[in-house]
Amino acid sequence: MFPLRRNRRLRTSEAIRALVRETIITPNDFLVPLFVVEGKGVKDEIPSMPNYFRYSLDLLEKEVKELWKLGLKSVLLFVKVPDNLKDNKGTEALNQNGLMQRAIKTVKNVCPDMLVMTDVALDPYSIYGHDGIVENGQIKNDLTSDILAKMSISHAKAGADFVAPSDMMDGRVLTIREALENEGFINTGIMSYSAKYASAFYGPFRDALDSAPVDLVNIPKDKKTYQMDYANRLEAIKETQMDIEEGADIVMVKPGLCYLDIVRDIKNAVDVPVAVYQVSGEYAMLKAAAEKGWLDHDAVMMEQVMAIKRAGGDIIASYFAKDVVKLIS
Ligand code: PBG
Repeated sequence: MFPLRRNRRLRTSEAIRALVRETIITPNDFLVPLFVVEGKGVKDEIPSMPNYFRYSLDLLEKEVKELWKLGLKSVLLFVKVPDNLKDNKGTEALNQNGLMQRAIKTVKNVCPDMLVMTDVALDPYSIYGHDGIVENGQIKNDLTSDILAKMSISHAKAGADFVAPSDMMDGRVLTIREALENEGFINTGIMSYSAKYASAFYGPFRDALDSAPVDLVNIPKDKKTYQMDYANRLEAIKETQMDIEEGADIVMVKPGLCYLDIVRDIKNAVDVPVAVYQVSGEYAMLKAAAEKGWLDHDAVMMEQVMAIKRAGGDIIASYFAKDVVKLIS
C-alpha cells in the first residue's frame, strides 16, 4: 500500500515549488504611501514606524526617483499640516497652493509617469482630528462630503490621477464623482476606502501626521460613528457595493492582515480591483518584533504580503513596498 497522491512530490525542490506556485509578488502589486511635511532638507523618521520617514518636498523628489528606479510606479500621498493651518472645516485642504497640491506637482515634475493618488479626508487638517466637520458632538456627513468633493477637484487640478477618500461618509463617492465629471476631470479615478474599520492599528499613522482625535468635551474620542465595527462582515460587502454603484474605480479593505476574510468576500463579490491597506500598526508590530529578535523580518514580511495577495488583494498599499521589492529583485 502507498498513498495514491503524494502531494509532497510538488514540494521536493525550489524549482518544482516555483513551477507550481500560485501567487507571485511583483513591484506592480504595490502602492507606496508617502508622508509629506513642510520645510527643506527634512527626512524625519516616524518614531512608531522605524525606517519610515516624513519628507519635505525637496527630499520627496529623491525618494520618488528611487521608487521609480525600483519599479514602484504608484504612490499615495498624505500630508502633515502645521497646527496653525488647522480648523474645523478643512479650509487649508482647499488651498490650491497647499502642501498636498504642491506635493502632487512635485511628484509629477520629477516623475511624470508615476501614478499619483491622494488621501481625501479632513483629519490632517482638522483641529479635532476627525475625518469630517464636527458639530454638537457629531461628524456631519453631507457637509463633509461637499468639502471632500472640493478637495478632490483641487487635487485633480494639481495633477492627481486618483483621489482616495478615506473618510467613510455616506454618499461621498457619488458627490466626488459628480464634481469631477462637472469639472471635466473624467479620467480622474476614485479609489474608495470602502470597507474601512475603526481599528486600533492606525495609531502610528496618527503619530506620523499628528492627526489623532483630540481629547475635548463634546468631541468623539474615536471614529466609531463613521468607520466600521470590526465585528461585521456583511456590512463590508454592502459598503463596497454601494461605493461601486456610486462610481468607485477601485475599492479597498483596511486594515489588512486581520481582515483577510473580508478581502476574500469582497474579491468574490465585485468586479473592480480590490486594494488592501497593510496599515501603520501592522508595520510597527513586525518592526518591533524583529528589533527584539523575535521574528525574522524579511521572512514574515513576505509571508504577510503574499497572504494579502492570496486572499484577493490586487493592490497592496504597504509601508513595506520598498523592502519587499529590494528583497525580490
Ligand atoms: C485618514 C487615514 C487614516 C489612515 C489612512 N487614512 C487614519 C485614520 O482613519 O484614522 C490610516 C493608515 C495607517 O494606519 O497606515 N482618514
